Amino acid sequence: MAAGKGTRMKSSMPKVLHRLGGRALVAHVIDAATRIGARNIVVVTGHGAADVEAALEGAAAGATPSFARQVPQLGTGHAVQQAAPFLPDDGTVVVLSGDVPLIGESTLRALVAQSAGRRLALLTIRTANPKGYGRIIRAEGHDGEVLAIVEEKDATEAQRAIDEVYTGVMAVPGRLLKTWLARLDNKNAQGEFYLTDVVGFASVDGVPIVAHRTDDAIEVLGVNSPSQLAALERAFQLRQAEALMAQGVRLADPARFDLRGTLACEADVEIDINCVFEGAVSLGAGVTVGANCVIANARIETGSVIHPFTHIDGEKAGVTVGAGSLVGPFARLRPGARLGPEVHIGNFVEVKNSTLAAGAKANHLAYLGDATVGERVNYGAGSITANYDGANKHRTIIGDDVHVGSNCVLVAPVTIGAGGTVGGGSTVTKSTEPGALTIGRSKQVSFPNWKRPVKPPKP
Ligand code: UD1
Ligand code: CA
Repeated sequence: MAAGKGTRMKSSMPKVLHRLGGRALVAHVIDAATRIGARNIVVVTGHGAADVEAALEGAAAGATPSFARQVPQLGTGHAVQQAAPFLPDDGTVVVLSGDVPLIGESTLRALVAQSAGRRLALLTIRTANPKGYGRIIRAEGHDGEVLAIVEEKDATEAQRAIDEVYTGVMAVPGRLLKTWLARLDNKNAQGEFYLTDVVGFASVDGVPIVAHRTDDAIEVLGVNSPSQLAALERAFQLRQAEALMAQGVRLADPARFDLRGTLACEADVEIDINCVFEGAVSLGAGVTVGANCVIANARIETGSVIHPFTHIDGEKAGVTVGAGSLVGPFARLRPGARLGPEVHIGNFVEVKNSTLAAGAKANHLAYLGDATVGERVNYGAGSITANYDGANKHRTIIGDDVHVGSNCVLVAPVTIGAGGTVGGGSTVTKSTEPGALTIGRSKQVSFPNWKRPVKPPKP
């Protein structure tokens, strides 16, 4: 169910598209359905339907789900009624909420097992603060037979005191669900078609009802407001952090760690505070990442050190950092940066779509774009490749063992022959021979005893 408006988010974006761990809330729910091997995933859309459907068509890991539009939105029962034509009679239907993102695979499998093709299985939880939830009404005491779910707004004072609540997740045989959906009405305090009324029908029909209680509150927490979204984000991040630490990753502070994608780590990885990882990132053995780095879509090989405040984003092309390299502080590696082993990229150096061979160094304030840089090249402070002529991008090729002085402009397309030297301050527009010293700047002239103009004396 993903048709609701999410009024309390106070956002123009549909609630289920707000992000948790870098992905839309509803995408997490689709993942959960995929993980339990759902034969058929139906998303009920309504508020912002076109946006929600477009987001899921793009982001779906497996097959794109089917969409059932619910316009207008007349309640959770009405939502599931729209999905009914997509649901086979011989299957088990699992109802999930698009705004309850962290529902777990094992919990859902247990719930489906409880339903066992013939029972209505409800996922419930006991909570100190049941306000707003549907209460589980039992025949007697805490373990009596389940008779109904009563919504907060329809509940009596005594029912409101019940601390076992419905989480919004159920598993039910398709053929039973369909007969009950046809019987729903909206004669209640909210004038809505409540899905939860199926529980009363099951009771009347003599279909066994099981309440499967979870004690993991995070799994069943819904997102209704920015504050709840932020709280769930922290809980989610803490879980990811714990899982990495269990593998041996050393996080300076799991409360100051954010992973919005996947992070694969070999042994002895150390990550300092406030780092953000996005997309697919892998860190080789012994890699250390300094504080405040943002790293996306990159492979960092064994023993490399990423110093603080470095921004790496490989986007689609990816970034690779070879073994034993040093990057940063304050470095920027952009898509297609391919660093070989033992490469040094220092402060305020930007690298885009460029290959640097083993041992190459660009340590200060430099730009390498669309360049092929040979082994052991030393690329001076303030030097840049002028790779763009206003219409096209061109390549710069720098041979092995070249030394480029400070503040040089290499105007592409251009090749600096192996072993060559480019004098500081040069603008190089023509390719150079291997081993040559190239100087492309105006000759220095000096006028001895030069007298600077002086201001006239004040009257
Ligand atoms: C529902 C349950 C309540 C349970 C609670 C758990 C009902 C009647 N009540 O209440 O027992 O304790 O969830 O969080 O089911 N939605 C639609 N179309 C609609 C209405 C809702 O798609 O017409 C979707 C919403 O987008 C959301 C989900 O259904 O993803 C739940 O809706 P919400 O309004 O939050 O249900 P509650 O009133 O909280
Ligand atoms: Ca509601």
